Amino acid sequence: MAPAPRRHLLQIQGMERPEIDALLDLAESYVLLNRTGKTPRDLLRGRTLINLFFEDSTRTRTSFELAGKRLGADVLNMSVSTSSVNKGETLLDTAATLNAMHCDLLVVRHDQSGAPHLLAQKVEASVVNAGDGTHEHPTQALLDALTIRRRRGRIEGLTVAICGDIMHSRVARSNIHLLTGMGASVRLVGPPTLLPSAIERLGVTVFHDMAAGLAGVDVVMMLRLQKERMAKGLVPSAREFFRFYGLDEAKLALAAPHALVMHPGPMNRGVEIASDVADDPIRSVIREQVEMGVAVRMAVLDRLTRAALGNA
Ligand code: NCD
Repeated sequence: MAPAPRRHLLQIQGMERPEIDALLDLAESYVLLNRTGKTPRDLLRGRTLINLFFEDSTRTRTSFELAGKRLGADVLNMSVSTSSVNKGETLLDTAATLNAMHCDLLVVRHDQSGAPHLLAQKVEASVVNAGDGTHEHPTQALLDALTIRRRRGRIEGLTVAICGDIMHSRVARSNIHLLTGMGASVRLVGPPTLLPSAIERLGVTVFHDMAAGLAGVDVVMMLRLQKERMAKGLVPSAREFFRFYGLDEAKLALAAPHALVMHPGPMNRGVEIASDVADDPIRSVIREQVEMGVAVRMAVLDRLTRAALGNA
């Protein structure tokens, strides 16, 4: 018997390949609908989506907002700085408030790993994790996968290097689960201070040297140095970091000639990536990632809504 359709999207870990393929196929159809302006605006009519963001965000929040609106939902952005959370309201009180508002879809970003999981147990809405602490950011990995699949036609058999601040990156963790699960080889490249110990258990290969780590790879995925989560002293200086681990033309030349350059944003230009590489019109797919983000989030909202209605 097929598993029951999922009500929440909390993490990539544990998702099976057919489920990911189906989400990517649906997202692919939304890319085309978005480009032609023919999105089904009645799919989420009468539904309420609340964006509950306890951390800063530009791309993720706005793309969930756009995705919800394009499908006809009423979208509300709950800004934490003006909400009762700053007055000491607990996450569970917030959940009770959201239940009373009869929200259908709740998109949560929180600095504590596991916060969306806790909310999912307490709210009646479908919960989407939009990034929890250093744990996971499932829609980012899905949009990265869609970008790769559209450019390369597949994920299986590719070699992807994820570089930089792996330690603090929920993007890296979701991508490791997704890419290894879909049959890609994943390399992690970064200084020992920014790599969690025993990460090899997730089926990845670790490199501390960019030249070795980038040799022949099909995709170079750069990560932001997440200073806000970092204890002092993990990185000597931004200049030094760029010299050894920043992606510039010389280091990129070591990857396969067709290698794609990716970054989830926001970028620190001149720290983890050189501006000319980030803006390279042929190799960088950073803007395409943003476009795919809207399509992927539409697919996720579509799927979860149908699952909640029982007609997935
Ligand atoms: C990422 C995040 O918030 O985890 N950003 C994003 O969603 N595009 C990565 C980051 O903040 O560096």
